[in-house]
Amino acid sequence: MTTFAIHTYGCQMNVRESEAAAKALLDAGLTPAADEEGADVVIVNTCSVRGKAEDKALGKLGLLCATKRERPGRVVGVMGCMAQRLGESLFRRVPRLDFAIGTRCAERVAPAVEAALAGRTTLALSDLHARPDAPSGHMPGGFSAFVTILLGCNRRCAYCIVPDVRGDEWSRPAREVLAEVRALAEAGVREVTLLGQSIMNYGLRTPAFDADDPPSPGGYAKPFPRLLEAVAAIPGIARIRFTSGHPSGVNDELIRLFRTEPKLCRHLHLPVQSGSDAVLARMRRGYTREGYLDAVARLREAVPDLALTTDVIVGFPGETEEDFLLTRSLMEEARFDNAFIFKYSPRPGTLSATWEDDVPDAEKARRNQILLGDQDLRGARLNQALVGTRQQILAEGPSLRNKSRWSGRTSGNKIVVFAPPPGVRPGDLVDLVIARAAPQTLYAE
Ligand code: SAH
Ligand code: SF4
Ligand code: F3S
Repeated sequence: MTTFAIHTYGCQMNVRESEAAAKALLDAGLTPAADEEGADVVIVNTCSVRGKAEDKALGKLGLLCATKRERPGRVVGVMGCMAQRLGESLFRRVPRLDFAIGTRCAERVAPAVEAALAGRTTLALSDLHARPDAPSGHMPGGFSAFVTILLGCNRRCAYCIVPDVRGDEWSRPAREVLAEVRALAEAGVREVTLLGQSIMNYGLRTPAFDADDPPSPGGYAKPFPRLLEAVAAIPGIARIRFTSGHPSGVNDELIRLFRTEPKLCRHLHLPVQSGSDAVLARMRRGYTREGYLDAVARLREAVPDLALTTDVIVGFPGETEEDFLLTRSLMEEARFDNAFIFKYSPRPGTLSATWEDDVPDAEKARRNQILLGDQDLRGARLNQALVGTRQQILAEGPSLRNKSRWSGRTSGNKIVVFAPPPGVRPGDLVDLVIARAAPQTLYAE
């Protein structure tokens, strides 16, 4: 019996593709390994978004391939964004590597494993301008699933490598997305998270609906809200999430849907990157500080309990102390529930990599620490404000720390630890009152 393990770096897009690859390996007769050390086949799914993410993956691959000296039959492969970027050269950098499979071609992984077991190497990269297939295949048994609806990205923010590794933006036909969600619901899935790099662009560059598709009952004309509405109508689906947002997609239809569709979770991940107009313009983000805050104000007015999370980059080329303080104040004004803060990392081939990386690393680290400190206090304060409120929680199962307690998530995506009501099963929705709050966790009785 051949066993496999997949180690995943990067975003949910990668998690989804790892799952598709795992399902294909399962179908090919392989078994998931109990742990990575014991696995006969190890695949590293990689991210290129920052230099450090690539260094980690290369280090990991080097160690794995070194184990092949003692275990010559072991298979080690790489997939994902770094494989797409570095391609052929990976075989020189990582001696004894068996295969490299790029992005948007998870279906190539199972044949590559078979070839490797027969002693052959494989290099398969995706054509970034061709229309890709979305990852198919889900692992059986879960109550929560990712569904990719938009592939690639055409925005070309100045710092970002994603368009170079994930290619042109394509929307999956709505019919195909809905069929996938229907099948998941029939298999017991209660929560779906729709994925796309700039997901509100769904159906704008390439069509998603055609003339034969049934009209939107709520009269939604824009493809993204229209798709969300159709997903919500699928029996069995109790919760819908999506990521990532862009302020340009915050329109009246989306706001109306947040207000009226109880299955649409009260959470929006809306990366802001910076609070300074000068930096936003150089980043080519396509909005201003005021535009971003205006989108937040409209959302908050219509949906007061919406949780907002974001991504921020510190130390972008030319970022002054004044620019940084503008980011700091924007984060307080927007009242983010959570924020991922990154130190700028120049990426080969991007526009900003041609500019001097002029903020010293120590200064990037200082700015990062300040924003993290602010966010911890703000997150704790916002969590504290939830004490005494009733929240709907999707029960996930026994908590990792204390098996007599369960954990789950609120609609706003906050983790709640609670005493399981009698008869509760993973995937059930339970209504509980928040009794106490810690900075990262809520507790309910
Ligand atoms: N598609 C998403 C972002 C994908 S990358 C969006 O546009 O919202 C995830 C995050 O990594 C970005 O939001 C950004 O904050 C960060 N990031 C991207 N490129 C980076 C770089 N070169 N250096 C540091 N952080 C970066
Ligand atoms: Fe990168 Fe910008 Fe596309 Fe997000 S929208 S993936 S940051 S280019
Ligand atoms: Fe990384 Fe690729 Fe996602 S570069 S952030 S894994 S799209």
